[in-house]
Amino acid sequence: MYEWIRAFHIIFLVTWFAGLFYLPRLYVYHAMPENHSSFELFKVMERRLFGIMTIGAVLTAVFGIWMIILSEGVILQMGWFHAKALLILFLIAYHYFCWKIMLNFRSGENQHSHKWYRYFNEIPGVLLILIVIFAAVKPF
Ligand code: HEM
Repeated sequence: MYEWIRAFHIIFLVTWFAGLFYLPRLYVYHAMPENHSSFELFKVMERRLFGIMTIGAVLTAVFGIWMIILSEGVILQMGWFHAKALLILFLIAYHYFCWKIMLNFRSGENQHSHKWYRYFNEIPGVLLILIVIFAAVKPF
């Protein structure tokens, strides 16, 4: 049973990260004035992608919390899990920030350059590497 829950945890975190990687990439294109003719299309793509990645985030958390419950809280006492939990908070903040940016684009009030979004786009990759190392290697 536990292995099945972990499998679905991983399936949904892939869904979540597909969005976390591609949504800021859309923002890069959306922030280029020369792409003006595609802005309405970008808005639709962003909205749909945000919906899918939010479902991925919620289900990742549901299956993760389910494993914690099955472990009777033992996982909560482990050092690697504390480090992972801290990074997950950053990830949720990033997700929220993506939502705010999407709303700004929708109302035509983008505040950043395409270059800024290129840097912003690097953050989930760093978090992914660290979180997977903590979860899989459990270094402490
Ligand atoms: C959203 C809240 C999350 C919770 C509550 C959570 C919780 C957990 C728990 C309890 C396990 C089982 C650990 C074990 O049995 O050893 C696990 C496994 C795992 N988690 Fe998460 N997790 C969350 C998010 C994430 C995210 C965002 C990632 C990736 C970036 C991630 C990557 C993994 C991986 C790769 C494993 C499998 C590790 C292994 O079995 O080797 N988790 N998670």
